[in-house]
Amino acid sequence: MVSEEEWREVFGDDTARTHRLSAHQLEQVGSALPAVGDLDLAVRRLLAGPLARLARRVRPRKTWDDLVLGEPQLDQLRTIAARFRHAGTVYDDWGVTSASGRGIVALFTGPSGTGKSLAAEVVAHTLGLDLYKVDLSAVVSKYIGETEQNLEKLFSAASAGSAVLFFDEADSLFGKRSDVKDARDRYANLEVSYLLQRLESYDGIVVLATNLPKNLDDAFLRRIHEVVSFTLPAVDERRAIWAHHLADGDLPVDRGVDLARLSKQFEISGGIIRNVVVGAAFRAADEGRPITMAHLLQALSGEYKKLGRLLNPEDFVVTG
Ligand SMILES: Nc1ncnc2c1ncn2[C@@H]1O[C@H](COP(=O)(O)OP(=O)(O)OP(=O)(O)O)[C@@H](O)[C@H]1O
Ligand SMILES: [Mg+2]
Repeated sequence: MVSEEEWREVFGDDTARTHRLSAHQLEQVGSALPAVGDLDLAVRRLLAGPLARLARRVRPRKTWDDLVLGEPQLDQLRTIAARFRHAGTVYDDWGVTSASGRGIVALFTGPSGTGKSLAAEVVAHTLGLDLYKVDLSAVVSKYIGETEQNLEKLFSAASAGSAVLFFDEADSLFGKRSDVKDARDRYANLEVSYLLQRLESYDGIVVLATNLPKNLDDAFLRRIHEVVSFTLPAVDERRAIWAHHLADGDLPVDRGVDLARLSKQFEISGGIIRNVVVGAAFRAADEGRPITMAHLLQALSGEYKKLGRLLNPEDFVVTG
């Protein structure tokens, strides 16, 4: 990253150093600035190229109110945000040194539909950062060295623009370094060593998400600051998730909808609850009336079939 002095040489004495640019990026932004006019915009444009090819940008909209989680997990997420927010105070003003770099590497583990992607969006939103969902199929290349180059582009662009980098199904990239059996394994190991080293010098937030934490390499696990374990919601949490999704927008909901029954009877993830509410909304729209218990139970039965779960027809009978 360039120093305050180098920054001022390009942008003048009155411009605070608001982005963490490499020398090369500084030069690029400096030469684009006269035409673009706005510094933030010039930095965003610089990043747009490499990031657009390798990751999908999400404008975070979800807030803490959208996320139903246990207090321990919420506390961990707040800790991640605080570590980022106060890095300047602790590392720069107070001069605290960090052995593992100043970035934050978080691991979100847990079953599908428990809110891992949602939580990453909430953290990005609360910090005013963009969220970049890394497209692993675009990053990982069969050509020697190209995966490292792609990762380098990703990390340096994200670091300059202060984005949250989100790696879904991280186990496929950060998985156990297998015994070297053939040339392909050797290259895979190179990528992992590169990543380990790159994570140390990255000063933003990296969130790795996985359903299979056991598959993660130990060398990675040691570099993770916060492991947040997402679990299937308990009955009270399910009730809050049902209530939240049924209160979405201007969704019309019949007064007979029984939240207590829905949350007690069906042990499902927040993701499934969301699907059921959306499915029921379409059934209701089709009939031109508010969502009823019958719509929700029909949608639930459809989700159970999709999941291949055993169906007890009595569970889906409309009562009352
Ligand atoms: N804890 C939760 N609180 C509120 N809504 C939730 C929660 N979990 C899931 N949802 C709802 O389900 C949707 C899908 O969840 P999300 O994509 O975050 O799950 P995930 O854990 O990332 O799953 P996967 O492992 O399949 O990627 C969310 O956008 C949200 O609408
Ligand atoms: Mg997800």
